[in-house]
Amino acid sequence: MDKEVLYVKGPSKIAGEVEISKAKNAILPILASTVMVKNPVVINQVPALLDVTSMLTLLGQMGVDVTVSQDMSIELDATKLFRLKAPTDLVQEMRASCLVLGPMLSRFGYAEVAMPGGCAIGTRPIDMHLDGFRKMGATIKYRNGYVVARCRAGRLKGADIKLQQVTVTGTENLMMAAVLAEGRTTIMNAAKEPEVIDLALFLNTVGANIHGAGTDTIIVDGVEQLSSGSHHVLFDRIEAGTYLIAAAATRGSIKIKHVVPSVLRVLLEKLEEAGANICTGPDWVLLDMQNQRPKAVSVETMPYPGFSTDFQAQWSILNAVADGEATIAEQIFDNRFMHVKELKKMAANIKLDGNTIMTKGRSHLTAAEVYATDLRASACLIIAGMLAHGTTIIRDIRHVDRGYELIEEKMVRLGVDLYRKQEPVESF
Ligand code: EPZ
Repeated sequence: MDKEVLYVKGPSKIAGEVEISKAKNAILPILASTVMVKNPVVINQVPALLDVTSMLTLLGQMGVDVTVSQDMSIELDATKLFRLKAPTDLVQEMRASCLVLGPMLSRFGYAEVAMPGGCAIGTRPIDMHLDGFRKMGATIKYRNGYVVARCRAGRLKGADIKLQQVTVTGTENLMMAAVLAEGRTTIMNAAKEPEVIDLALFLNTVGANIHGAGTDTIIVDGVEQLSSGSHHVLFDRIEAGTYLIAAAATRGSIKIKHVVPSVLRVLLEKLEEAGANICTGPDWVLLDMQNQRPKAVSVETMPYPGFSTDFQAQWSILNAVADGEATIAEQIFDNRFMHVKELKKMAANIKLDGNTIMTKGRSHLTAAEVYATDLRASACLIIAGMLAHGTTIIRDIRHVDRGYELIEEKMVRLGVDLYRKQEPVESF
């Protein structure tokens, strides 16, 4: 398969406005949850992302009827769902495929999902998901690389589940499993991400009985079945934050639209600490660096509402060109550092000490040939290309299409000189 390569000409500065798309990490669990609904449901304004395509492919293979309209609203009807299996190729491609486990168990009392392998950002097991299903009456077996979950009683039973550590998709999987279970399920130490709230909102729209989403204790009272309904997904806070960080790093200015500023509170505070002038409206944020170099700011990644790990790579590049020294402590994933060695190729003064990234800011970088390794590292390298003198070549750039809709179009409109090319893979 040809490799996709992105060419970024630097230095360049972000200036202008951008419309933020709907949240990948909200849409994926919502799409998975439609497995539980024996009626048509409609999800509006679904962004064109590789991960969305992967999830729709998986649901289609399971027998969900999927209809995509011109305006990118998607109707899904799982009435005639016939295959309770998520195959290896799709799960390896996208770890979030494991989100069909809870819905399948909840509706059918059976699920077979390939074990999600590790990925570029760490081992990422699903032991907490599986322990929760066991507490609800499921038996878990492993067969030929698949997790086989079965509930002999036919219907899961509500249970009290205390998560050992905060897990976003773990919270979502268990919340979905509880929707059609018998009785009450309480999930303690639950993830508080806005995407968890959005999933609960959608499920309650189609007849579920969920309280407390967004707090650390979620209560689900099981119901008999779900009805049809439609949903507008919330904005993608990670896409939004990525554009804000890019504007700050390039000493530019940007207005991001169709957002909820309060959801970005912690990031906005850190950007102000870095010297950004920020003002907010009902559904927009304006950031202006007034051509000033950002100041380096230390951060520590935390579960929401703390500083998101999904901003860590992007913040690394901001600190790498900022004034001063700073550290970034990655507390969520055990290996979310693949971008560090790529930034070193661009002459960044950056090093890794355990789970901490240390930087000494330089006013600019040097263009180089680098490799994208995962979704957020790709975004970090694109920003790095804007900050380097010369043309940076970013290989394996398809990672970025998993979570950033129309990124070239949006960046070019913001004044960035970049373009993509297919390059044949060297034949041996
Ligand atoms: C979600 O991943 C997001 N993905 C990630 O976004 C995000 O970085 C992460 O949450 C933040 O915590 C989606 O929502 C689709 P976790 P998830 O379970 O749920 C460990 C992006 O860039 N853990 O919250 O997979 C795990 O290894 C992606 O959009 C267990 O040990 O992450 C990690 O160290 C990347 N056992 C930590 O917990 C488990 O059973 C938090 O992981 C589950 C998790």
